Amino acid sequence: MTASPLRCAPHHAWFDEARFGIFLHWGIYSVGQYEASWAFYNDGVKGQDPRDSIPHDQYMAQRHAFLARRYDPEAWLDAFKDAGARYTVLTSKHHDGVALWDTAEGLSTVRDCGAGRDLLAPFCAATRRAGLNLGIYYSHLDWNHPDYASQPKQPGTFTDPHPGHRYSFGEREDAARWERFLRFHRLQLRELCERYSPDLLWFDGDWERTWQQWRFTELRQQLLQWRPGVLLNSRMGDQGDYATPEQAIPMSPPPGPWELCMTMNRSWSMALDQSYKTPQELIRLLAECAGMGGNLLLNVSPLSDGTLWHQQLGLLREIGTWLRRNGEAIYGTQAGLPAGHWYGPSTLSKDRTTLYLTVLDRPSGEVAVKGIRNRIRSATLLGDGGHQLPQRVSGGAPWMKVPGVLWLGVPASAVDANGSVIKLELEGPLDLYTGHGAVVTQN
Ligand code: GLC
Repeated sequence: MTASPLRCAPHHAWFDEARFGIFLHWGIYSVGQYEASWAFYNDGVKGQDPRDSIPHDQYMAQRHAFLARRYDPEAWLDAFKDAGARYTVLTSKHHDGVALWDTAEGLSTVRDCGAGRDLLAPFCAATRRAGLNLGIYYSHLDWNHPDYASQPKQPGTFTDPHPGHRYSFGEREDAARWERFLRFHRLQLRELCERYSPDLLWFDGDWERTWQQWRFTELRQQLLQWRPGVLLNSRMGDQGDYATPEQAIPMSPPPGPWELCMTMNRSWSMALDQSYKTPQELIRLLAECAGMGGNLLLNVSPLSDGTLWHQQLGLLREIGTWLRRNGEAIYGTQAGLPAGHWYGPSTLSKDRTTLYLTVLDRPSGEVAVKGIRNRIRSATLLGDGGHQLPQRVSGGAPWMKVPGVLWLGVPASAVDANGSVIKLELEGPLDLYTGHGAVVTQN
């Protein structure tokens, strides 16, 4: 990410409040359980895991078996809604160029796959019906398009579907072909905007050309014309609205609005990969993102017939259970305390009068929060019937506006293994002491 004027307009409040979305990688790669698109791109690359490296023709042959026979987007949405997600983002076209919709040009599930139909339209309808916001993923680059020349990772690898046209940047670009590709790229994006009216376009795959070649400034204008108000992620040079860290929790919040995208196991598309994260890990991630003012976009990888894998459903259910109890601390909140005040994630209500402290690990009795000058009106655990937690203040010189440490009694038995949330209602908006300390000159 480069420094960019990231912006979320007021009509993007839904995104700022959502905190939890579902990403879906679903395409012909789901048939053989290969990593989306990369499996043929990485073909022959030294040291590549052979499970994730197959010749191009073998990769593409999967399309015949991509039937989507049990595809039930309503059932998907029931599961996502139940998990507490507020928006979805589906791969309408990954780097392999196979569109899930009835596009006028290029490869599609309608013309080129066993499914023989538009798989995107029913997904969009189901998302709308469930009342979630709709995001559409689209890869700028297209490793199967005859006018898109790609760059192999290592010379001699990547069975190029269009040999002899290997390219690429700057002066070596074949201008006429690139113009044709850009026309196609715009045509597809216009179709997506006008047919499905997404709230969010989630771009990817901009790294093989420069921002200038993609003409991202022009693209932003075009997209906003085709779909007024659409939110754009940052994988379009400096023309996006929010940052997209990937696969690792940021150590400090990216500037402006942001969203972490993350897989449940190690793969975007392979549900059968067994390296699943635990529910505790995923809930921790969600709480940590919210604590830094960001969203978590958690990936799901449906099987090729459209079934959702039971381990993924199980994780979604656990997140849903946790959010039903603790969602107040997540949705619509803003970043909480800076590091050092509380050892865990925390969030603040919009008016900054309620502080939510997430207890991730089992306490041995009391937990401490530092620097709060406000009087505490109430201290409870979410979902615990409003029982007041015992409190005491230790140290401090409040008459000099230097608060002591607030200790809250939280018995380990009261803490959910996935994390519990302390709700501190403050008198007035948070008044936080962040000073270095001083000599106490009045007693
Ligand atoms: C990367 C990968 C892509 C994946 C995406 C999700 O850009 O290339 O396969 O879809 O991340 O963020």
